[in-house]
Amino acid sequence: MLLAVLCLCFFSSTACYHLTPESEEHSTTLDYLRTTNKTVNALLEGKLEVKCVACEVFVETLQILVQLNASSSEIVSLITKACIILKIEDERVCSYITEEFRDEFVTVLFRLILHPTWLCYAAIGPSCGEPPDIFTFWNVTIPGNKPTGEPLVRPKDGLPTLKVVQLSDVHIDLQYTPGSVKKCGEPLCCRDGKGLKDDEAGFWGSMNAPCDIPLRTYKNALEFISQQIKPEVIFWTGDIPAHDVWKQSRADQLQHIQVTADLMSQYFPDTRVYPSLGNHESSPVDSFPPPGVTTDHLSNNWLNNFVQKVWSRWLPPESLSTIGYAGYYAVQYSERLRIISLNTQYCDNLNFWLYLNNRDPANMLAWLVAELSWAEGAGVKVVILGHIPTGRSDCMKAFSWNYYRIIDRFESTVVGQYMGHTHQDHFSMMYSEEPDHHPTAFQFISPSLTTYSNLRPSIRVYTLDGIHRKSTFRPLKSETWLLDLDRANEKNETVWELEYDSQSAYNMTWLVPDTMHQLYKTFQQDRGFFEKTFWKFKFHDQPNMPCDDNCYRNNLCEMITGRSRDPNICKDISLDKQEEFFLRHNMC
Ligand SMILES: *[C@@H]1O[C@H](CO)[C@@H](O)[C@H](O)[C@H]1NC(C)=O
Ligand SMILES: *[C@@H]1O[C@H](CO)[C@@H](O)[C@H](O)[C@H]1NC(C)=O
Ligand SMILES: *[C@@H]1O[C@H](CO)[C@@H](O)[C@H](O)[C@H]1NC(C)=O
Ligand SMILES: *[C@@H]1O[C@H](CO)[C@@H](O)[C@H](O)[C@H]1NC(C)=O
Ligand SMILES: *[C@@H]1O[C@H](CO)[C@@H](O)[C@H](O)[C@H]1NC(C)=O
Repeated sequence: MLLAVLCLCFFSSTACYHLTPESEEHSTTLDYLRTTNKTVNALLEGKLEVKCVACEVFVETLQILVQLNASSSEIVSLITKACIILKIEDERVCSYITEEFRDEFVTVLFRLILHPTWLCYAAIGPSCGEPPDIFTFWNVTIPGNKPTGEPLVRPKDGLPTLKVVQLSDVHIDLQYTPGSVKKCGEPLCCRDGKGLKDDEAGFWGSMNAPCDIPLRTYKNALEFISQQIKPEVIFWTGDIPAHDVWKQSRADQLQHIQVTADLMSQYFPDTRVYPSLGNHESSPVDSFPPPGVTTDHLSNNWLNNFVQKVWSRWLPPESLSTIGYAGYYAVQYSERLRIISLNTQYCDNLNFWLYLNNRDPANMLAWLVAELSWAEGAGVKVVILGHIPTGRSDCMKAFSWNYYRIIDRFESTVVGQYMGHTHQDHFSMMYSEEPDHHPTAFQFISPSLTTYSNLRPSIRVYTLDGIHRKSTFRPLKSETWLLDLDRANEKNETVWELEYDSQSAYNMTWLVPDTMHQLYKTFQQDRGFFEKTFWKFKFHDQPNMPCDDNCYRNNLCEMITGRSRDPNICKDISLDKQEEFFLRHNMC
């Protein structure tokens, strides 16, 4: 339900005003009734914009109900009413959502009397006020003796290269129906009804509508990749199911994972494929209880055990046990290259399980440190894959800052980070905490295959320094390819076009922390260049999207924000403004 509020907050850009609710102790039924009355009255008085206060009152009410030992059905009925009253969704969506999220909410609320400001902040955004810091900060132990890295030298031309495709946020909708209604008023359309002219779902997908893509578009992308790009490796960075988050069952999620994986093996029988989990793989969405939650109907075993089985076709047996445990793994690609796939949902601020305990969930970061220490000792380089970029406000602060320190410590071992989640084409820099603050690393944030909600289907291609004795395994080139969706729908011809590559757009022949930092500096000095290149590519040149002063500053800030909620980054932009910007651009 709150997740729904969250998503809807992004869909409708309705302003969300913060009104300070009277502080009240709610410990009796009478208080509960009074609170409910207050919400309802505020709403009846036409203050439908007061989502923040309504959200807080609503969470408080829920907590009281839980304390009063209300039955699940009473709780569900309250959530449903709030969903309808707040006009968060139509009744059908509301009733689905609440069933879906019931277990997670009841359990989390029951075990933690959470301050409502926190949930509402997560659900609606910083305009609901700064939450009290209920999270304890923790430090993962990182070994000393950071090696003095040798200066990076671009490999000579003519050495072997490695062609990699990154496929992210495919979001397949198995119920996608051409000709159905494109703008149906729900969070996901292009499924039902008969669309009128200009409101008809296209055969290959639909622009400018809250729709995901049909399976045929996914197949077409795989066909194009296998025939034209011919990669040796595929990084598949999560988010496979559609955005019908209010009615997904576990079986739906597993079906999407199975179907897409089978097609992947069919088109790429001999290619190495390395998947990561996205926040949409679970049901309910974003719910990834850490391994300590063992109750059958709550634990995440259903998902971890399933992907362990499905992914075993691409991974050796020694990589599988951590997948069954918590959805992450490491695999040796070659003698000198190791690939680590993280379950970044352990930093997802909508994964409410973390509100119970956010200290290094599933020991993933401690494990990462051990992996990187081993790799450093063995002279092995490491590529990290994941879904949620760790510098965004979606990624909880303690995790994000620890991760940042790990990358700093192991900057000469980690040679690439490939993320997704935002559906947009951008990157995010990381800097050392040593006095010179030199760039240590950066994350590629890859555009999505899904159109959701006004983006042409995209594929990312990288050329890496390949397998040879002194390989750096760093990227020499990146490319973004787009499907011409209008042409596909009008003429039934599927044409993939190169949108840009880093060499022709940026005159770069080597994508390493220093050169990416230089690129950032160029954008900072030359706004015209920024607009003609980065800004155009970020959303694939959507019409009518000018970038005003604020947008320009925020984009620059986003590029150098490698850790979340960092008050010292972009000092000339207030933290509130940054957070608003990041949240507004969330695609859930
Ligand atoms: C609820 O609000 C109505 C109208 O504002 C009022 O008459 C009624 O007494 C309130 N109920 C409670 C329990 O406060
Ligand atoms: C709720 O149930 C628990 C145990 O199940 C009990 O200890 C507590 O007193 C009950 N609370 C109320 C308000 O009935
Ligand atoms: C974590 O480390 C930082 C410095 O690296 C220190 O300032 C902070 O107090 C530490 N926090 C805890 C909880 O140990
Ligand atoms: C469009 O092409 C596909 C094959 O790519 C075919 O299956 C489909 O029937 C065609 N649709 C129309 C309307 O011609
Ligand atoms: C591209 O970079 C090279 C150096 O790597 C430089 O000599 C050349 O002038 C640059 N070209 C443009 C168009 O900036």
